[in-house]
Amino acid sequence: MAYVPVSSLRKSTLLLVPVAMGLLLGCQEPAPAAQGGEQLGELPPGDALLLASVKVALPPAGLTPADLPEPGSEGARLVTQYCVACHSLASPGSHSATDWPRYIRRMWLRLERLQDSFQLPLPSAGERQVMLQYLVDNALRVTASLPAAPGRDFFAATCSSCHELPDPAVHSSEDWVAVVRRMMDHMQEIQGRTLTPEQYSRIVLYLETVSGA
Ligand code: HEC
Ligand code: HEC
Repeated sequence: MAYVPVSSLRKSTLLLVPVAMGLLLGCQEPAPAAQGGEQLGELPPGDALLLASVKVALPPAGLTPADLPEPGSEGARLVTQYCVACHSLASPGSHSATDWPRYIRRMWLRLERLQDSFQLPLPSAGERQVMLQYLVDNALRVTASLPAAPGRDFFAATCSSCHELPDPAVHSSEDWVAVVRRMMDHMQEIQGRTLTPEQYSRIVLYLETVSGA
């Protein structure tokens, strides 16, 4: 079992694995009986690895409905209602407008297959359209052509591993500092490693050079 990083599993709720099913049903936080590595360690090795592999790609924890863009809109309301059944609330900015349609298709597929056994609410076709439009309208703004400057290749390689390459023009150099710091937290949570101070400086310097503000 050495290859199953059970102790590093995140504690967000995921309703996929049979053993966890009854215990986690309807809870945002895992029930006490389902917490910790011990119970997960009792899963057959194949299931434990499957659960671990799904969990490393989940939206990071911590986003609240109030953090969403246009928090009072119908799209934000529906996303808050339907998109937290299995994992933390995802930010529309976590993917580009091009990527959202296929991401959300995977979510509907899972929801349709699981809603019966878990009695999850199923959105209507109209509600799905509103959610997709909301995610697309507020998606990550990306670019295919990055201005040349020192650090460009490192920025491109580092900042495209979870989403498409962000457009450096969307933030001022001041704002980029905070955004990159937040991305470092996501890297720690999702990828288990983050940037060294030297790598951080290289990326911030590139963004400061090309963001134009
Ligand atoms: C029925 C359970 C379920 C529901 C409901 C659900 N998801 Fe997911 N979601 C998953 C699973 C499982 C994964 C991990 C595997 C994957 O990425 O397909 C995931 C992954 C994700 C990811 C991470 C993908 C990545 O690589 O960044 C995003 C973003 C996401 N979901 C957004 C949403 C949104 C938006 C909704 C509502 C429209 C939603 N999810 C509803 C089960 C669900
Ligand atoms: C480990 C995964 C991951 C990596 C790597 C990553 N991001 Fe993100 N990014 C996210 C997630 C999740 C969101 C949505 C939540 C948020 O905004 O914090 C996001 C959203 C964004 C947004 C849109 C939100 C905003 O504030 O404008 C920008 C821009 C962005 N990332 C830039 C970057 C840059 C620059 C890098 C490289 C330093 C980077 N990302 C690397 C996961 C990642």
